[in-house]
Amino acid sequence: MKTVFITGTSTGLGRAAALHFANQGWQVAATMRSPEKETELQKNPNIRVISLDVTDPAQAQRAAATAIGAFGKIDVVLNNAGHGIYGALELVSEESIDHQYAVNVRGVINVIRAFLPHFRANNGGMFINISSYMGFLSAVPLGSLYNMSKFALEGLTEGLYYELKPFNIHLRLVQPGGFASDFTNKINLPTSDTIRDYDVVNARLNKVFDAVKNKKFPLTQPQDIVEQIYAVATGANQEFRTPVGQDTAAMTAMRNSMPLAEYLEKVDAMYA
Ligand SMILES: NC(=O)c1ccc[n+]([C@@H]2O[C@H](COP(=O)([O-])OP(=O)(O)OC[C@H]3O[C@@H](n4cnc5c(N)ncnc54)[C@H](OP(=O)(O)O)[C@@H]3O)[C@@H](O)[C@H]2O)c1
Repeated sequence: MKTVFITGTSTGLGRAAALHFANQGWQVAATMRSPEKETELQKNPNIRVISLDVTDPAQAQRAAATAIGAFGKIDVVLNNAGHGIYGALELVSEESIDHQYAVNVRGVINVIRAFLPHFRANNGGMFINISSYMGFLSAVPLGSLYNMSKFALEGLTEGLYYELKPFNIHLRLVQPGGFASDFTNKINLPTSDTIRDYDVVNARLNKVFDAVKNKKFPLTQPQDIVEQIYAVATGANQEFRTPVGQDTAAMTAMRNSMPLAEYLEKVDAMYA
């Protein structure tokens, strides 16, 4: 029986992935920050719920040990946990800046490091890292920190290829566009009583987020992305990078069809 270790399974894509892999007969280590709040996943006989805040390297080590202890072997690690800090760089709190990096980049590093001894000992394993189209292009104003985190994740993943290849450890990136989850609901653009220069762009982006929340865009469903992740995990798809979603395809085509300066102006004009 194949096994997968997934981060951030309390909601959204991670949760959908945990259920999908379990329904396909995989054993699933479903990790989350607050397992005490979980009531559903542990009812599935293929799922073991484990506590993990990815920002803590010691917790990552413990969660990896618990999962390996429970299942004997982990085949695939799905680094899904993530969140989006959006907002004018000048207005975002120091804590938020560090937290964006701590979850989306350092968190993935913590989990990868926790599994490397196991994967080396097994002479095999796969890390699937959930990036975004924001991992290879800019698509909105006020997204620099999220862009930074996913660009960094892409660099980390590609850079690791060389040192992990000798151990038959595979690296993969899945790059969704916008999809329906709590992700956008959790975004809270910072404002300031004294600095009002960002009010206009804040209002424009809030309008876009409201449209997403009210499902005014044809968003991809997490289940569609999960099926792509599953194809990567089983080896049916062996691409290093897997972009998903119509918006990803459209933005990529636009980005590749013109010089960067022109692309930046076009995206800017979308929010004018
Ligand atoms: N939704 C989109 O439009 C979109 C597009 C492209 C890529 N993505 C990426 O897809 C992934 C999943 O996002 P989603 O849309 O499914 O959002 P979501 O519903 O908000 O789920 C995010 C998950 O990450 C967890 N998480 C946050 N901080 C954590 C931490 N420190 N330690 C462990 N878990 C933590 C959350 O747990 P808590 O419940 O404890 O907060 C939650 O389970 C993320 O990497 C995101 O960047 C999303």
